[in-house]
Amino acid sequence: MGILYNEQAGIFKLDALDTSYVIGIFDDERFVSHLYYGKKIIDSDVRYLYGPLYQVRPSVLPGQAGRIMDAVPFEYPTFGCGDYREHCLEVETVDGYHACDLRYEAHKIYPGKPALEGLPSTFEREAGDCNTLELVCRDKVLNLGVTLLYTVFEQLNVITRAVLVTNEDSNAVYIKRVLSGCVEFDHQNFDVMTLHGSWERECGPVRTPLRQGKIVTESTRGESGPTDNPFLAVLSCDATEDTGEVFAMNLVYSGNFLGVAQGHHFRGTRIVMGINPVNFSWKLEPGDTFTAPEVVMVYSDRGLGKMSRTFHDLYRGHLIRDVYPDTSRPVLINNWEATYFGFTFDRLIEIAEEASKCGIELFVLDDGWFGDRNDETKGLGDWFVNEEKLPGGIARLSKEINKLGMKFGLWIEPEMVSPDSELFREHPDWAIQIPGRHRSLFRHQYVLDWSRREVRSHIYDMIHQVLSGANVEYIKWDMNRTLTEAASAALPADRQGELCHRYVLGVYEIMGRLREDFPSLLLENCSAGGSRFDPGVLYYSPQIWGSDDSDAIERIQIEMGASMCYPLSTIGAHVSAVPNHQTGRITPLETRGYAAMAGTFGYELNIAQMSEAEKAVIREQVDIYHKYNWIVKEGDLYRIGDPFANRDHACWMVVSRDKKEALVTYIQTHALPGYFGSARKLRLKGLMDEAVYRAEVISVSSEVVNGDAHLEGGQNAGKGREVLEVSGSALMNAGYWMERLGGDYMGMMIHLKAIV
Ligand code: DGJ
Repeated sequence: MGILYNEQAGIFKLDALDTSYVIGIFDDERFVSHLYYGKKIIDSDVRYLYGPLYQVRPSVLPGQAGRIMDAVPFEYPTFGCGDYREHCLEVETVDGYHACDLRYEAHKIYPGKPALEGLPSTFEREAGDCNTLELVCRDKVLNLGVTLLYTVFEQLNVITRAVLVTNEDSNAVYIKRVLSGCVEFDHQNFDVMTLHGSWERECGPVRTPLRQGKIVTESTRGESGPTDNPFLAVLSCDATEDTGEVFAMNLVYSGNFLGVAQGHHFRGTRIVMGINPVNFSWKLEPGDTFTAPEVVMVYSDRGLGKMSRTFHDLYRGHLIRDVYPDTSRPVLINNWEATYFGFTFDRLIEIAEEASKCGIELFVLDDGWFGDRNDETKGLGDWFVNEEKLPGGIARLSKEINKLGMKFGLWIEPEMVSPDSELFREHPDWAIQIPGRHRSLFRHQYVLDWSRREVRSHIYDMIHQVLSGANVEYIKWDMNRTLTEAASAALPADRQGELCHRYVLGVYEIMGRLREDFPSLLLENCSAGGSRFDPGVLYYSPQIWGSDDSDAIERIQIEMGASMCYPLSTIGAHVSAVPNHQTGRITPLETRGYAAMAGTFGYELNIAQMSEAEKAVIREQVDIYHKYNWIVKEGDLYRIGDPFANRDHACWMVVSRDKKEALVTYIQTHALPGYFGSARKLRLKGLMDEAVYRAEVISVSSEVVNGDAHLEGGQNAGKGREVLEVSGSALMNAGYWMERLGGDYMGMMIHLKAIV
């Protein structure tokens, strides 16, 4: 078992695959302190790790001796008793006092992993996958029980944490801050990596040197948000994609979050992550327990690449519940960028007909099918079909689509209401607002108060009715604005700080019900693109629309950024029209396919208006997807050319688990002059040294502009060229020649297969 307890030394040693994590309960005071996190250590007695930091020293208070709490590396630091660094727990009593001091009381070690009430979390798939330590701590004055949950995944470099706070007093207390995890390091030789961006530019890695002070990533928007992702890593200053140590945290939560890396005054580092305390307060009645969400901690001794692969393995194996576990998910076509709101029944069928001829398997009807919704200004909340637009309703449309041999999917945005809707006219108080204050409109809509059961149930019942009356096999769940003026008409004054968390719990409850009631439904989440891209959402839906920026070149960056912690198979990605609607850029259809195949792969364009040459390319893409998507879905990702640092090219590869096959994608984002300027030898990764691989170019971009394919000299250089047979050692050490491609945005895909 990966969790050892040395009773004499008061030490817990948690061993994941190549990772050790050591917790010490030291001396009579029973502080729960952090002793080590990093590469595996084999000793069973590591009490020397207590070191000098734990000795009693003169206090700052004259005439008293005491411990310098500000120097102790705590497992779960609290506010108010002398630790001034970033803390995890702050509690206010009914008398208005703020102090908490946790001491060890008991513990339990057991196989498996408990679920967290009302919250998504990673799980044990097969017996023996993981073991759990519950450390029960107590503040004697508050009568507050705090259980620190640690789960060790035996076959992965993963330890997860969560926290339960129980009020055992006869008075209520107010939790002002409750984060999920904290790790201490005894040095500051770190860079910090976080993921930042904005709408249409999500998940851009930002690397910042750590100094004394704080580096913060956070959301106060009511969702995890596009500007910051709930991910934070500290990495050795010399760490690269393939070398160096990385310690990463990712919060399994979809609301306001906070992650902080603090270089503190004792020359150490503390990292914390959890629910954002801004506008948060939770009244805990006697006997009640608050559950703080899970934080996933990944350790890598081989750079960011291994960190990402560990997250991917954990999420694919222990978080995502795929409705297509053993096959590729269907290739879809979505009508949004093809028609926006301007569709008719016949136009949709026209698109579906052409799509089905190209082998596309799922037709998704996006925004605009319900209520009086012909533009953004109206109809959200009225979840009944607009029969004027769609005579015969969703039932008839889905039947027609099914007749074409395609599945049918539908868009919804259940958390929102338009001021111009039947729902809002009937229930104006159901929208989130502060009485007497202007209610902000974003995209002409308000947010419904999903902390209220009656609101959630009403919306869910309407959607349930639509889904029960037709053959809907996919749902795109959108959320197009953030929370503002956050207050609930149903909460008393001393519980208003609970709204944002209760809102998230409400979303989880309904996504959970949807999954239970329609177990074979493929759910894709979306929040104006990737504004709610987090592991909490992935627990309910195996894929999330990556960004409203569908431009292939921009998308490479967004997808490679998201791949820092999320598997490629979770990133919703479509081939869209050129000139691209967001950037105006013109890219070859093949290249758009390469970018989309680094995600879930689908289309979002008017296929009925495409030329025969283009449709032939689409058929080829669908074939490639069906042949090779299993590698993308299950395989190990290696980022090769860094799309963030260099403007010239991007390259990534996915290698099958047995290392016998791989798929390499290369895109020349910026052509350079001269032969050697644009021909590049790139070192591949993740292969077997001794194996001989057959490397075959399976697709090369051709210049397709306005429907005409121009296959001119040099531009199709790789296609049909001699197949290379060479060892993994050559491909990884000497490299693979990416042939010269004729122009910006050209690319190719190479398939590798071990033959000896
Ligand atoms: C935002 C989404 O990201 C788009 O894909 C589309 O579904 C629109 N909303 C529809 O309003």
